[in-house]
Order: sequence, then C-alpha cells, then structure tokens
Amino acid sequence: MIRASWIVVVACSTPVDHELPQPPVLVDTNPDPAIVEVSLVAEPATLELLPGTTTDVWAFRDAAGTGSIPGPLLEAKLGDRVIVHFENRLPVATTIHWHGLRVPNAADGTPSAQLAIEPGARFDYVFDAIDAGLYWYHPHVEADVQIERGLYAPIRIADTTAIDVAADRVLVLDDVKLDASGALSETTDRLDMMLGRQGNVLLVNGRVQPTLVAAGTRERWRIVNVANGRYFHLDLPGHRFTVIGWDGGLLPGPYEAETLLVAPGERYDVIVELAADTTLRNIYYDRGHDIPDPGPKDLMIVRAGPATEHAALPPGPAIAPIDTAGAPEVMLTLREIDDGVAMPSFTINDEAFPDTTPVLGEQDAVAVWNVVNDTEMDHPFHLHGMAFQIEDDRLGWKDTVNIPQKQTRRLRVRYGGAGRWMFHCHILEHAERGMMSELVVSPRL
Ligand code: C2O
Ligand code: CU
Repeated sequence: MIRASWIVVVACSTPVDHELPQPPVLVDTNPDPAIVEVSLVAEPATLELLPGTTTDVWAFRDAAGTGSIPGPLLEAKLGDRVIVHFENRLPVATTIHWHGLRVPNAADGTPSAQLAIEPGARFDYVFDAIDAGLYWYHPHVEADVQIERGLYAPIRIADTTAIDVAADRVLVLDDVKLDASGALSETTDRLDMMLGRQGNVLLVNGRVQPTLVAAGTRERWRIVNVANGRYFHLDLPGHRFTVIGWDGGLLPGPYEAETLLVAPGERYDVIVELAADTTLRNIYYDRGHDIPDPGPKDLMIVRAGPATEHAALPPGPAIAPIDTAGAPEVMLTLREIDDGVAMPSFTINDEAFPDTTPVLGEQDAVAVWNVVNDTEMDHPFHLHGMAFQIEDDRLGWKDTVNIPQKQTRRLRVRYGGAGRWMFHCHILEHAERGMMSELVVSPRL
C-alpha cells in the first residue's frame, strides 16, 4: 500500500482523489475455520455518492459496521458452512437472494422459497459454499426499487487454484439516477420501464470515477454488474482482458477479449496486464429500441504500478459438457407488450408472473432450455439455484446470460436441488413487471 502511493507521488503530478475502495468485509465471528458466521443488517443510510452531496439510500452493513454501497463483501472458502444472521431495519419487507450460489431452496431468498422478512424481523440464512467464484447478494422483493436504492453486495468464494497476481480486486459496477442535490430519483418513466432504469451517474465500488493504482503488472479483477438496466461494455484502451472465469467459476482455459460486455447480473473474472496508465471506459452497445449512444464514458482511472513478474496462469478446471442426448426441450419465449401509451409489460410464454405455468423437472435430470427473445431488445436471463452451459459457446458455467434481441440461446441445464427456483430477466423493471417464472424441481425418488 505504502509502496503503491509512493509510486503515484513520483509518477504523477496530479494527486489521487478517490482511490478505488474495496468493499468492507463481513466479520466472521465463528472461531471454527470451516464456518463463516456473520451478522448482516439492511437499513436506511446517508452516503456521499456524488462528491459534495449526500444521498439517502438503503444499505447493507455488518452488525458492527456502518452502511456502505456496495454492501460488505461476504467472503468464504470452498467447502465452508456459511451462516448469515440477517436483520431487516428497513421500513419495508425484504429477503436476501444469493445470486449464483447453489444454496438449499429454503435459503434462496425468493418469495417462492420464504415469507418476506418484515421490518424489525430477523432471518438466518444457512448454506454451504460449494462453488468458487464471484457472486452477489441482493433483495428479491421489489428488487427494482430495493437494489436501486443501494441494497447489493459481492460474495467471493476463494478458489483452491492459486493464481499469481499483484492484486485480486472486486469491481462492482452500477449507475444511479441522481438529481443535482444528490437525491435518488423516485420516478420511473416509460423509458425506464422499457430499458430498465438507467442512471446518470456511473459508479465503481460506489465511487464516481475512482482511481485504481495498480499494485503491480498483473491484476485480477472480478467484475459484477448490479445495475437495474444498464449494460456495461468495458474498454481498457491499450489493454485487453484475459477472461479466466464466468458467473459460476473458472473456465477450462482463458480467452482474450478486446472489450467486455457485462449485462445486469453477470460476472466476469479477468486478468489485466497493466502496461501503462489508462482509463476503464464504458462504450456503446446496441441493446435495442434505438437506445442512444452517449459516447464513451469514463468509469475508472487506472495508474500503472511497479513492474512485477508473475508465474504463468495455471490451467483451469476440466468441465465436461452436459450430455443432452434425449433430453427434453423447454421453450421459453420472451415478449414485451407495449402499445406506446400504457406502461409496458413483459412476459415469458405469454404469461406474466405470478400467473405463470412453472417448468417442471426432476433433480439431476437434464433439459435443454430454448430461450427465445422475440423482442427488439436484449434481455439478461437468470436462473436461480443452478448453473448452466450455453450451447455453441465456450464451455463454462453461467447463471445469467444475455439473450440478444430476436435471437435464441440454447441452455444445457442439469436440475439442481429440489424446490421452487425462479428464473427471470435481470433487467429488474422487466422482472417485476412479469418477465419471471419458476422451475419446480422434484426430489429424485
Ligand atoms: Cu440476481 Cu432472481 O436474481
Ligand atoms: Cu428484460
């Protein structure tokens, strides 16, 4: 740390204003090294998001800490038992969903799996960390409102594979819609409904254009997009992203990407070799409905650090393709209903949640899900409780996948634990206005 700031003083004439923070970490109060036991609170807070102003938000905090955006990182290692004592101090009912983690259905935090936790009430979530990677947690009641107000935080489950890097960072990407006084916009207009609410202020780990001072030549960035509707299309001029992992953990082998599209809910685990100063930017991506191009927007200033040497990347895990021979085909067609006057609504197989026909399956059975996007915009499709593979794509585990406008993706799914698992578009305005349904997995007999 001291060395890094010393480098900055020497290398740059302008001082670093907002060094990129890392989210605080939930404090493990259990002495057993195989148990992570934490206390988490959700409550209103006032934070400085736009420099010089304050914003009333809802935020997570450790029971012994203060509220932050993003909320505190839940950190565990593969195989740990995780116990979260949660207390709701919000004025509204809520739940917590552990996005991407394979948890028992009773801990999934959706209205299909539990009653909402009333203001003043507590709930204990208990699950085992069975997959390494970056995940995130957020409410699953009025998610469009509650996540927008600041209730989101990362989860990092440590790998057993050692990857030699100078820093392993979490980058939580969001946008907020603020007025000049710093207040969060309370209104949702037709465009917000259609595209998902897009903010006017872009945040990395809760900061506007922070500066990352590289700890060395090679860094590992775990990126998650928690925005309601914004797609982040990342560009790091003069550099490339070496993608080593997706939503559900490491890939069998890395691949290089000039730019990285991160749809709401998705995660990418990347290696960057930081040769020189640069800026992480968000560039245009056409996700439909003639969304305008505001030009590139700076997200984060990146200052090169000391030159460091690193061992070659280790091979990733072997992943066997899910064998879909003879597997049933499930058809899921995404549509939007918009007469140009009323608020638009969104459906799966022409049904709007909660009036939907669930997909039925048996534990460990395999199915091919054809997600057909019959609309003129992209939708990020998310399935709870299990990861899937994408046919005709690289082999890797995803729980959230972008389905481009007027295209179909075929997902190979092996049904996980028994229970009611939600699936939905992760543009939260769409999910909360119908584009959501359930998979009911029955126990294997
Ligand atoms: Cu991240 Cu059902 O959601
Ligand atoms: Cu959508």
